[in-house]
Amino acid sequence: MSRVSSRSDHRARVSVGRGRLWRVGEPRGAKATLAKRRADVAAMFDGVAARYDLVNDVLTGGLDRRWRHAVVAAVVPEPGERILDLAAGTGTSSKPFADAGALVVPADLSLGMLQVGKQRQPELAFVNADALALPFADGAFDAVTISFGLRNVEDTAAALTELRRVTRPGGRVVICEFSTPTAAWLRLAYHGVALRALPLIARLTASNPVAYEYLAESIRAWPTQPVLADALTAAGWRDVQWQNLSGGIVALHRGRA
Ligand SMILES: C[S@@+](CC[C@H](N)C(=O)[O-])C[C@H]1O[C@@H](n2cnc3c(N)ncnc32)[C@H](O)[C@@H]1O
Repeated sequence: MSRVSSRSDHRARVSVGRGRLWRVGEPRGAKATLAKRRADVAAMFDGVAARYDLVNDVLTGGLDRRWRHAVVAAVVPEPGERILDLAAGTGTSSKPFADAGALVVPADLSLGMLQVGKQRQPELAFVNADALALPFADGAFDAVTISFGLRNVEDTAAALTELRRVTRPGGRVVICEFSTPTAAWLRLAYHGVALRALPLIARLTASNPVAYEYLAESIRAWPTQPVLADALTAAGWRDVQWQNLSGGIVALHRGRA
């Protein structure tokens, strides 16, 4: 397990992805595909890290803040509880747990996201970790949560099993992810208009528009609420339920170990 320090790493690292070369941290051109190869995903998030939180607020019109409150309400963090916030990125999804007195571990694959997080929130104990091989003991956490991260992991079923492994018996899982709007008119507007506009809006915010093409593609390809619930059950979670937010644009799935 490697902890991330607040010291910036100025060495230029170079990644190879699908025959292309790019410098990590360079916002241009890093885009993952639906194969979700970890090197591609990490490089893409490295590239958007500096503006990630700002672009999130712009693209969701601030709704992301409401969704984050719903996640915390679903986890119900108690002071002193050990909570894993997997795919924590810059730690924006982790901070409310620390504020509630829990011992939150923000873990992420992308060093770029972690470095930005550590600069902004030095009090959080960021960990560089891969969802498919978590560097934690069995039953290490009282609760595990992942916000807008599961969709980016190469193997959903394996990640759900790995999350289950690190949760103590009786512990909780809460997954916050983009999902399928329940009303036909909203599905049409969301898929037909909003998702198509994402890269354009991202371009206006001077971020990496191709990364937001991937965002739209990965949302379109993501399973519906019942299918994800079945995947949770198959991974060993019980009492699985979900709650739609903003008409199903986002869904919160929860279960018990
Ligand atoms: C959209 S961001 C979400 C960040 C944060 N949870 C939030 O709500 O703002 C998705 C994060 O998933 C991380 N990620 C993708 N694949 C991962 C994996 N296999 N293991 C750990 N983190 C991963 C990315 O590095 C990225 O920081």
